[in-house]
Amino acid sequence: MNKQLRPAVIAGNWKMNKTPAETVALINEIKPLVANADCKVICAVPFTGLTAALEAAKGSNIAVGAENCHWAKSGAFTGEISADFLTALGVEYVIIGHSERRQYFGETDKTVHDRTRAALDSGLKVILCVGEQLEDRENGITTELVRLQTKIALKGVSADELKSVIIAYEPVWAIGTGKTATAEQANEVCKAIRNLIAELYGADSANGLTVQYGGSMNAKNADELVAQPDVDGGLIGGASLVAADFAVIVKAASK
Ligand code: PGA
Repeated sequence: MNKQLRPAVIAGNWKMNKTPAETVALINEIKPLVANADCKVICAVPFTGLTAALEAAKGSNIAVGAENCHWAKSGAFTGEISADFLTALGVEYVIIGHSERRQYFGETDKTVHDRTRAALDSGLKVILCVGEQLEDRENGITTELVRLQTKIALKGVSADELKSVIIAYEPVWAIGTGKTATAEQANEVCKAIRNLIAELYGADSANGLTVQYGGSMNAKNADELVAQPDVDGGLIGGASLVAADFAVIVKAASK
């Protein structure tokens, strides 16, 4: 982290977990534990839990996010949710391009770009996920791949709009597997992303960009990860569903 230059952000990605009632219970449990956080705290919850989460988080320092949005404003896209629907609810953040969307729902770099564009056009803040598969890492193409994913997603995004973007580096092999990237590996790729942003937008934009690490980040390893200069927090899956664990991670980023 480098809090002089950019905010540290801890975001929970609840994935397909928690009914609306369970959402209220978990937010209420998290609230007092993170009330004194010296970092930004976000809970990204399923669409059906957004209203409940917003209500429960009202007046607290917890921001609410969705986990995806469609690229069109409205239309014949059965089962989809547009960015405008999210802003109309009062949602502030949306996760775009999570590897589970890429893996199971046919998400491509092009659709990640389109969804990012739509989210920014609607006034949402975006947590843009990028990351390599194990095979890519073994083939030595991690940096190139992550650069490409980032570049395609951000095509046409202005420097001003970039202020509403957080990038989450999530090595796919580390997600939900208990295998965490080492702090050095995490920092290396987060730094590579920042270098790319410097090339595309200049040093000020790069220095101001929050780059998170995600992938089996937990109460035990959070300290070491966020101590890295280019790791500005985390996108947390499993551990974000346990209030006490999530709070420990928030505390690590509050130092
Ligand atoms: P995990 O998930 O913390 O359970 O590995 C991270 C993520 O998918 O964002």
